[in-house]
Amino acid sequence: MTYFDQVSEAAAFLKAGLGSLTPKICIVLGSGLGAVADAVADPILIPYAEIPHFPQSTVAGHSGRIVAGLLGEVPVVVMQGRVHFYEGYTPHQVTFPMRVLGALGLQAVVLTNAAGGIAEGYRIGQLVALSDHINHMGFNPVAGPNEPRFGFKPGSGLRFFDMTEAYSKRLRSLAHEAAAAEGFPLDEGVYLAVSGPSFETPAEIRAFRTLGATLVGMSTVPETIVARHMGIEVLGISCVTNLASGLGATPLSHEEVFAAGRLVEQKLLSLFKRLLPEMAAGLEPKP
Ligand code: HPA
Repeated sequence: MTYFDQVSEAAAFLKAGLGSLTPKICIVLGSGLGAVADAVADPILIPYAEIPHFPQSTVAGHSGRIVAGLLGEVPVVVMQGRVHFYEGYTPHQVTFPMRVLGALGLQAVVLTNAAGGIAEGYRIGQLVALSDHINHMGFNPVAGPNEPRFGFKPGSGLRFFDMTEAYSKRLRSLAHEAAAAEGFPLDEGVYLAVSGPSFETPAEIRAFRTLGATLVGMSTVPETIVARHMGIEVLGISCVTNLASGLGATPLSHEEVFAAGRLVEQKLLSLFKRLLPEMAAGLEPKP
């Protein structure tokens, strides 16, 4: 069975599970950010383990299920938990869920993550909208034969595709408006992705700062690349869970990252409740 066929099978399974719900927006939740999923009204819960060919999360803090329903009155698919390259998954497996969302006809995705803060002035618990990224993972998930059938939207699914606006300006400006209305600051930053799982050395962080990165993390970039290959609009939101290596007073740990995620999830939820209706209003009508 080809990768494309596996994606199609998983998408058909999910479509059946969603019944009459037709979500246009997906939210992927990073480490410790699960509360957003708990706020979905009348949720349809689908564990990743039940979806054909879906990779399973092996990390504490990543539940591994789809929560679909209404959030801020908008039909959404929330992915509670994601898989990472450092878990031993291939780039194709890491981006399999995003491919399935493309096959389901999703038009926009909000990718959240826990990230280390590199820029001076970042505080733990602060939210940052991604303006751009640097792929330092050592691979590109669309390398290999191009599959034009992933071009679910006109003009997408190309061998070579533009990344000048990987993170939608339109969605970013809506996010800034929503944050302002909720009364908290939303910075903009550049996310540099490493493969992990070791955290960085202080010398690496100094190098990344010189390269123009303000945040560092172990996810998001493969999903963004694949979403853009399929013509899906991307909003990236990082939660600064720790100061990057060498910038804080204590050694880094997953527990610290996870605990900081828990502190910020209510803020993220209030942002989404305001943002989602605005996002949904600007999407194309269903063909
Ligand atoms: N480095 C890499 N990934 C991370 C970090 C970090 O400091 N914090 C949360 N995810």
